[in-house]
Amino acid sequence: MKSSHPRLSQSKPPQSGPPLSNSAQPEAYQSDSCHSKTWFPESWQTCRLSQQAHYADLKLLDKTIQELSQLPPLVSVQEIEELKTKIASAAKGDSFVLQGGDCAELFSDCNAEVITDKLKILLQMSLILVYGLNKPVVKIGRMAGQYAKPRSAETETINGLSLPCYRGDLINGVEFTPEQRQPDPKRLLKGYSFASLTLNYLRTLLDNHFGDLSNVDNWDLDFVAHSSRAREYHEILDKLKYSQSVIENLTLQTNTASAKDKIYTCHEALHLHYEQALTRQCDRGRWYNLSTHMPWIGMRTSQLDSAHVEYMRGIENPVAIKIGPSMSAEQLLDLVNILDPNNCPGRLTLITRFGEQKIQQLLPAMICLIQKEGRTPLWCCDPMHGNTSITSHGRKTRRFDAIINELTKAFQIHQNLGSHLGGVHFELTGENVTECVGGARGLTELDLQKAYKSLVDPRLNAEQALEIAILITRLNQPS
Ligand code: PEP
Ligand code: CO
Repeated sequence: MKSSHPRLSQSKPPQSGPPLSNSAQPEAYQSDSCHSKTWFPESWQTCRLSQQAHYADLKLLDKTIQELSQLPPLVSVQEIEELKTKIASAAKGDSFVLQGGDCAELFSDCNAEVITDKLKILLQMSLILVYGLNKPVVKIGRMAGQYAKPRSAETETINGLSLPCYRGDLINGVEFTPEQRQPDPKRLLKGYSFASLTLNYLRTLLDNHFGDLSNVDNWDLDFVAHSSRAREYHEILDKLKYSQSVIENLTLQTNTASAKDKIYTCHEALHLHYEQALTRQCDRGRWYNLSTHMPWIGMRTSQLDSAHVEYMRGIENPVAIKIGPSMSAEQLLDLVNILDPNNCPGRLTLITRFGEQKIQQLLPAMICLIQKEGRTPLWCCDPMHGNTSITSHGRKTRRFDAIINELTKAFQIHQNLGSHLGGVHFELTGENVTECVGGARGLTELDLQKAYKSLVDPRLNAEQALEIAILITRLNQPS
């Protein structure tokens, strides 16, 4: 395997560009000058770049990127291709994708308890979905690399002092001091290490059968144990255990629930130097981002001529695009043409995040155009990011009702148009936080002060997440 040679300065294409494969690798895209050149891991550097940190020490950045590009990959090509196949199956309606995790992972949260709790809630939700939908569920954690955040402002001002905004632990520290807010290239190496530690622990848990049905009694989270959602969840569990024992009695096989479970990772591919350094040329000369299974382009960096689109068009991973209210159906189609010119199964996931008020007005035209063009991406709904509001105390929150409303509408709109919603995308945590209002426990705005931990967007707590999983199974019943 050859490693890429990242450059910081505006780089020129290599004499003979890297070989392009015939699957995800696009032909030159004619209608936009930025994407019409030969792709190579640094070609994004000549395109419009936004949402990047301003480093004071470019030499140190360069050195760090060189160092990163020599370090071993975090995920394998086999796993990435396996996920692509699974996404293709979800796009056809044969399975369902559950994507979830923190808005921003913190380096300080890289510990056994937090990682285990996040895995537990994803496993519990997945179990509810498998039972209710009677389909395999593909779990993709916003984990092991979700460390860089797009921001709406460059700076933050407190008492007359303006400092760079917090852009995620990969870039700077949240503490409001000039030292912490200064972007520090060395954080890129830390981010790589914490991602690696997180993945290692996830793999250790799953390799040791933590995710097996036979281990299900260890997934309970203390603070949800006595809630009404936990009761519903345990009823489902009892039914599953009963079905399992019937199968075992019928087939005279024991231990049918010991198959190893899998979890894939995803993050917003925002910090392009980081992503570039972990982009490696693999089999048949194809390029893969080996820092994560599924990188995505955030809503703020998905313009047609953006550096982020340029970077993503050349890698072989399954990629996702966040689609917000400012994108038109025609722009979406242009993006689809750039990122998935050959309509490669499993290559593209479209994650819509319009908000409960706008989804009805915006989603149908997109679905119709994509259908008309014969495209078959996976459609996914993120009912979190279009439904953020600010409380009277100035806290960011999301109403549980609004989240449910957007999800309900998404399922209905797809169904009415003969399309298929094949996945959901949530910001959630296994911790007992109070960041979103509503849900079975009826959290109010006043409750938010009890355990509001997110530094960026509000997340569902485990109880709210279970409630949503139960609801999805009801929304997705065939009519
Ligand atoms: C996010 O997923 O945390 C995010 C910033 O999303 P979006 O790009 O959809 O706003
Ligand atoms: Co977010």
